[in-house]
Amino acid sequence: MKLKTLILAAGKGTRMKSELPKVIHKVNGVPMISKIISVLNGLEPEENILILGHKKEEVLKVVGEEADYVVQTEQLGTGHAVIQAKEKLADYDGDVMVLCGDTPLLREETLRDLYNFHKESGAATTILTSIYENPFGYGRIVKEDGLVKAIVEEKEATPEIKKIKEVNAGVYCFNSRELFNALAKINNNNEKGEYYLTDVIGIQVGEGKKVQSFVLEDNMEILGVNSKVELAQASEVLRGRKNLELMENGAILIDPKATYVEESVKVGKDTVIYPGAVLQGDTVIGKNCEILGTTRIIDSVLGNNIRIESSVIEESQIDDYVTMGPFAHLRPKTHLKEKVHIGNFVEVKKSTLEKGVKAGHLTYLGDAQVGEDTNIGAGTITCNYDGKNKFKTVIGKNSFIGSDSMLVAPVNIGENSLVGAGSVITKDVPENSLAVSRSKQIIKNDWRK
Ligand code: UD1
Ligand code: CA
Repeated sequence: MKLKTLILAAGKGTRMKSELPKVIHKVNGVPMISKIISVLNGLEPEENILILGHKKEEVLKVVGEEADYVVQTEQLGTGHAVIQAKEKLADYDGDVMVLCGDTPLLREETLRDLYNFHKESGAATTILTSIYENPFGYGRIVKEDGLVKAIVEEKEATPEIKKIKEVNAGVYCFNSRELFNALAKINNNNEKGEYYLTDVIGIQVGEGKKVQSFVLEDNMEILGVNSKVELAQASEVLRGRKNLELMENGAILIDPKATYVEESVKVGKDTVIYPGAVLQGDTVIGKNCEILGTTRIIDSVLGNNIRIESSVIEESQIDDYVTMGPFAHLRPKTHLKEKVHIGNFVEVKKSTLEKGVKAGHLTYLGDAQVGEDTNIGAGTITCNYDGKNKFKTVIGKNSFIGSDSMLVAPVNIGENSLVGAGSVITKDVPENSLAVSRSKQIIKNDWRK
């Protein structure tokens, strides 16, 4: 396939009312520009060339410094943006697909169909279009005998042209040479004082070239994101697609409209997701799990048959048959092995809990290693921080840490030992022993009298 792509992403995005460049705003967790690049990569073009300008460093941070790009120093319009790629494409005489960086709902199949239609028809240029009942803001497609005559922008449209419902999606297939020949003839004599890419169409038609449109039935797919309202609409569409994909692959979503699953998340068969779940980043969830309440899981890997209720899980690993929550929090680098139970108001950070460990209530475990089947009593805290450094707590298997114990790290507690409730443990505890550290109880009889 002799195809290169040009992605326009230099604009300020004034209507977004944002400090960020528009194209790095996220739709369902993915920056718009990354979404478009990944869709285009599906077509295997020779290269994707970005046109960057406004805050280009921030865009490059998102797409990677190695991205191919040209710079549009001043944003003088979409036509002016494309002209910046002229030198880069000087030796190229193939097809070029031009797209805007703010149309993140386009699908790979659509772009492939558009390109194939373009190739088969032999037209000079093909424009992706769709029909909008309310076409306000989009360029209108003026046609005669089924062929495109011109694209007229909202600002220049006469009342007659404003009635046209076929709109420009901002995606075009051109021949590279012919595109730059026509661009040499555009001007900025219009309401916005900009060089419009869309003026290329009228010029080509004037030269007797055939320009056609490829009309897309699903008009939502061409949505251009110009404002925060449209950003939310685009995210909603992508979420809908993602949720559909999950259900088609066997997951159970109780209320898809209230389930927030980002693009890259994977969910196994028969896992039930209740409303309010937010699943983000590179999260993988196995089979037969139950995710209840307002649970947020980010960049984590969960096995099978796990039950989580109203909890937050960050960059952690959870093995089969774990139960967790409500109101528990796993912070990065935590590993809960099989059948661990983490209950109400328990926070675990950078710790490994071996098989069968239980920490049911009100506990903080940080930088800890807890052996198999050990029970951590309510209110236990690993005091892992002395104000400067972090230290480890190691607890052996089959031990029992009494409620409200402070384990002052670094400290080792041997296997099969018992720590009395309310103890402050500052020295290592040998295996099979009892450690108690608290003041003796005093009774003063009849004291209240
Ligand atoms: C554009 C089209 C319009 C179409 C709509 C589809 C033109 C003149 N109009 O309008 O016909 O219906 O897209 O969504 O092309 N950009 C630059 N440099 C610039 C100006 C813009 O790189 O100097 C980039 C922007 O970053 C953006 C894209 O081009 O990603 C489109 O610009 P935008 O201002 O959003 O164009 P629309 O008014 O939406
Ligand atoms: Ca736009």
